Amino acid sequence: MGVDSGLPDFRGNEGFWKAYPPIKKLGLDFADMANPKWFSINLSLAWAFYGHRLNLYRDTTPHDGFRILLDLVKTKNDNYFIFTSNVDGQFQKAGFAQDKIYEVHGSIHHLQCTKNCKNKIWEAKDEYIEVDMEKFEAINIPLCENCGAIARPNILMFGDFSWNHKRATKQESKYNKWIKQNKNKKIAIIEIGAGKDIPTIRNEGNLLSKKYTNTKLIRINPRDFEVDKNGIGLAIGGLDGLREILK
Ligand SMILES: NC(=O)c1ccc[n+]([C@@H]2O[C@H](COP(=O)([O-])OP(=O)(O)OC[C@H]3O[C@@H](n4cnc5c(N)ncnc54)[C@H](O)[C@@H]3O)[C@@H](O)[C@H]2O)c1
Ligand SMILES: [Zn+2]
Repeated sequence: MGVDSGLPDFRGNEGFWKAYPPIKKLGLDFADMANPKWFSINLSLAWAFYGHRLNLYRDTTPHDGFRILLDLVKTKNDNYFIFTSNVDGQFQKAGFAQDKIYEVHGSIHHLQCTKNCKNKIWEAKDEYIEVDMEKFEAINIPLCENCGAIARPNILMFGDFSWNHKRATKQESKYNKWIKQNKNKKIAIIEIGAGKDIPTIRNEGNLLSKKYTNTKLIRINPRDFEVDKNGIGLAIGGLDGLREILK
């Protein structure tokens, strides 16, 4: 969904390295880089990666597809739920209601203590991480307000046993409640840019459309658009796909 706002996806090593040439030099792939171990073994690298992304997502304006989707849900009495693996906060920025969003992999706009001292999650809004892009090093590092240990983004990483999922779990129960309330209605699932490498979003759409016969899955994806016979696959980008289906 973010690609048409100019945000990189991390499709394969090439896509990831194109977005982060300094990480190519280090020979790391996305799964190597998105690992909590860097917060203990190379802190300035860890926060260079996440600080740069935080700044990028803050500076990004959501593309018109978000507005098209908002206009659509308004015609449905605002009866919708956003289920996203994006951590970039673009749905909130575009005007979707915070209590109708489930960020299944967390949010970069929230921080937690690496030691989880008080099981707390706080907003990153008061932090600005300056990154030296030549050296790919963070100049400043956010700390836990309580114990002074290093803070990290409240995002699920690979091999991550210290992710604080409290916030995501609250969102999940709202999402499950919404599904329960609406399972006898006709539900349109509009899946946008859900990849296969980490198929969390794809699996959810597939599962819902199989479980409830009154749902329809519309899969918008320029490459990974194949869908089973009950769904509709559109081989097109997110913004154009939304424009097309609402024409
Ligand atoms: N903005 C973010 O928050 C952000 C950015 C990068 C990655 N991530 C997360 O990291 C994980 C892996 O990332 P990844 O990028 O390898 O995901 P991925 O493997 O899911 O690949 C990206 C998908 O987007 C599709 N795509 C590309 N351009 C598109 C467009 N214009 N419109 C619609 N779809 C398009 C590709 O065909 C592919 O299926 C995912 O969980 C992802 O959510 C988040
Ligand atoms: Zn702490």
